[in-house]
Amino acid sequence: MSEFLDLEAQDGIRMAWNVIPGTKQDAINCVVPVSAIFTPLKPNPAIPVLPYAPLRCRMCRSILNPFSVVDFVAKIWVCPFCFQRNHFPQHYYTISENNLPAELFPQFTTVEYASTAETGPVVPPVFLFVVDTCMIEEEIGYLKSALAQAIELLPDQSLVGFITFGTYVQVHELGFGLLPKSYVFKGTKEVTKEQILDQMSFFAGKTKPTTGVIAGARDGLSTGSIARFLLPASECEFVLNSVIEELQRDPWPVPADKRSSRCTGVALSVAASLLGVCVPGSGARIMAFVGGPSTEGPGSIVSKSLSEPIRSHKDLNKGSAPLYNKAVKFYEDISKQLVNQGHVLDLFACALDQVGVAEMKVAVERTGGIVVLAESFGHSVFKDSLRRIFQSSDNDLDLSFNGIFEINCSKDVKIQGIIGPCTSLEKKSPLSSDTIVGQGNTSAWKMCGLDRKTSLCLIFDIAKKDGSDSIGQSANDQFYFQFLTYYQHHEGQMRLRATTLSRKWVAGSGGVQELIAGFDQEAAAAVMARLVSFKMEAEVQSLFCWM
Ligand SMILES: *[C@@H]1O[C@H](CO)[C@@H](O)[C@H](O)[C@H]1NC(C)=O
Ligand SMILES: *[C@@H]1O[C@H](CO)[C@@H](O)[C@H](O)[C@H]1NC(C)=O
Ligand SMILES: [Zn+2]
Repeated sequence: MSEFLDLEAQDGIRMAWNVIPGTKQDAINCVVPVSAIFTPLKPNPAIPVLPYAPLRCRMCRSILNPFSVVDFVAKIWVCPFCFQRNHFPQHYYTISENNLPAELFPQFTTVEYASTAETGPVVPPVFLFVVDTCMIEEEIGYLKSALAQAIELLPDQSLVGFITFGTYVQVHELGFGLLPKSYVFKGTKEVTKEQILDQMSFFAGKTKPTTGVIAGARDGLSTGSIARFLLPASECEFVLNSVIEELQRDPWPVPADKRSSRCTGVALSVAASLLGVCVPGSGARIMAFVGGPSTEGPGSIVSKSLSEPIRSHKDLNKGSAPLYNKAVKFYEDISKQLVNQGHVLDLFACALDQVGVAEMKVAVERTGGIVVLAESFGHSVFKDSLRRIFQSSDNDLDLSFNGIFEINCSKDVKIQGIIGPCTSLEKKSPLSSDTIVGQGNTSAWKMCGLDRKTSLCLIFDIAKKDGSDSIGQSANDQFYFQFLTYYQHHEGQMRLRATTLSRKWVAGSGGVQELIAGFDQEAAAAVMARLVSFKMEAEVQSLFCWM
């Protein structure tokens, strides 16, 4: 076992079974599934960062790795996944046993590629604050000081935007210096990208193109029009501070028998569409600060009348929460939009009352966002959590963006799915199992937000029915996995981290001792915990029936 624990430091992976049951029946007998907990961006200073593009197998596209068999004379490498023979390109011709490229060093099973050719320009991260104003003065005061502190911690080059909401949604124009200006949207109806483009004068004085998707600077939006709403933190500190300083309680009167009119859903829809217009496909977070339930427009979780109580667990089980399904559907649509754009939703829900996390959480989970729950914006749980997002232990911003996770493995292993903060990219391949757990039926996943602690639980399937042709054939008793993580590094450039693993597999009754020797009970416990909590949520209705 200990050799596998050493590999955790190197590759960020723990597998429940490090020696893998070789047939479908053996795997079923093992009860705990063949599975892994993988931390794609686990920090490790020993990982080399290679300033060139990876070499790929021309057949299966997997990347050259230490398990490839190399013929130094013929300048050929054999792919361990599909056994294709590949010629090295010209610039690898000096290769020899004593002159290996880093990606063939046996200890470099994990490497990062940072080739500028493949990764495009450096882009700053974007933070869009979305702030609820339906709160008592005291809470507004706490929130103001926490926001002011967060603004100071933002990396200088990052872009910032600011939206407030209550009865209406207000998008603040920060690029106007001393003259405070904002665009106002009704809280009753969601706002599309088209409406944002039309109503926020993105084409002022110019004719709007009549065809094609218009999004971002490269599709014809002038950087000037974007810079009205998203400004470098170093340039807008003053304006931002004065907007925060002047934050006021939603001015619309609230009758004594009513809840505040709070249009959280529409505010998030405006935020998502604004980011979709300005920075599609580049890393951005919506940070929503919410002080109560949504009561206005789509995404509402309760009516305004205080005589109607907020839905309880019981109501959800009995299906007697009238707004629940509609609200979940609305936030699911927002999550799809955000995943398409590569953007994250973080939710800071601070209230004594419920704010509707049950309805909204899908958008946070699928985009790899953070949820912080506290009773008040003055509570240290909230203040410390917010500070820690921007200030990790070594003072580097520990946030990466816009990730894509891909997997490949030897034939006979399939992937059922991933439980964790990601969304299926619906790239079904021969690798995808028909049994689906979590985000499955794919071999690629979007991870809009990820940091060095983000971990995924991968559940595999052994497809091989019969182990007879394998026993004793030593060339065939290794399994290979390759995990590829593309992501926007916090310094702005795109990186690709490639991890290739090899594990042995055994079949038949003779292998039991070996199976046990490779069993990692901590990893197995973590996997089972994730599986159980996933099933609890997915099958919540039936579980609660007998509770
Ligand atoms: C993965 O590996 C298999 C061989 O096991 C290969 O056929 C397939 O094309 C590979 N690539 C992807 C993207 O699944
Ligand atoms: C899996 O994906 C394929 C194609 O992407 C789709 O046709 C099929 O319905 C999906 N299956 C499930 C169970 O979702
Ligand atoms: Zn191959």
